[in-house]
Amino acid sequence: MLIRLFFFLVSLSATFEEKFWKWWYQRLAAVYPKMDWRFMNYGYAPLDQESALVLKKEDEENRLFIQLYQHVLSGVELKGKEVLEVGSGRGGGSDYVARYHAPASMIGVDLAQNAVDLSNQFYHVPNLKFMEGNAEKLPFENDRFDVVFNVESSHCYGNMQAFLAEVLRVLKPGGVFAWADLRTQKMMEKENDLFMHSPFKLLYKGDITANVLHALDLISDEKTELIQARVSYLWRPLFSEFAGVRDSQAYRSFQARKMVYRCYRFQK
Ligand SMILES: C[S@@+](CC[C@H](N)C(=O)[O-])C[C@H]1O[C@@H](n2cnc3c(N)ncnc32)[C@H](O)[C@@H]1O
Repeated sequence: MLIRLFFFLVSLSATFEEKFWKWWYQRLAAVYPKMDWRFMNYGYAPLDQESALVLKKEDEENRLFIQLYQHVLSGVELKGKEVLEVGSGRGGGSDYVARYHAPASMIGVDLAQNAVDLSNQFYHVPNLKFMEGNAEKLPFENDRFDVVFNVESSHCYGNMQAFLAEVLRVLKPGGVFAWADLRTQKMMEKENDLFMHSPFKLLYKGDITANVLHALDLISDEKTELIQARVSYLWRPLFSEFAGVRDSQAYRSFQARKMVYRCYRFQK
């Protein structure tokens, strides 16, 4: 109940919401600077006979999170391209793209400087780097990138319209924007209207709530064990909520479809 009230209060003001998320991700990177935590998304698990993604042995432990990135970028030409991730977090997604998809350059941008610093420490892949930057005011010139992707980050932004305008500005003509995130049903329809009235051409739109829920199920016990081992008693409810473990408010909202998770791909 307290946690619901807390998230409700946070969502009342866009400026406060933005400041809260920045503080939260800065703190997370400061209190847990180890490389065994590379992804902060809910993950994606196939529900049917989708052919299994082939991963190197060392990436298997992050399969669910990588599968979300792979789904978002499915069919997008990345080889030899200039690629930008907005909201790169602890860098796992950009690192995956740089190692598996051979872009000419891969840049990850995040608002939390601590997360950017960690990412630059963790990964040493040619053509991969991380920079501090705000999704609503991207630090790049016009028409710079072939592909921009954004995974489970935009729910933190104060102004989604400003973000879309920035993506449009930094993408080359014909460039691709791939997006995935969660919203309440009502908010998702608002974002859908925003997308549909933007100058982007829609390439793909998919509801992946069931895939995300399946991933949350598969990893729930592991997350609960980690939270019990690493997080002090007082903070456990907030971390369990953040992690979307079974029976958290987030998990139950997906189950009841009060909250949905969608993926879109567009062309400029
Ligand atoms: C849930 S995490 C997801 C990180 C990463 N995409 C992943 O899947 O592991 C959300 C990230 O968005 C970043 N973020 C929030 N607001 C931002 C903004 N205005 N500009 C850029 N990044 C932002 C946060 O700092 C955080 O690292």
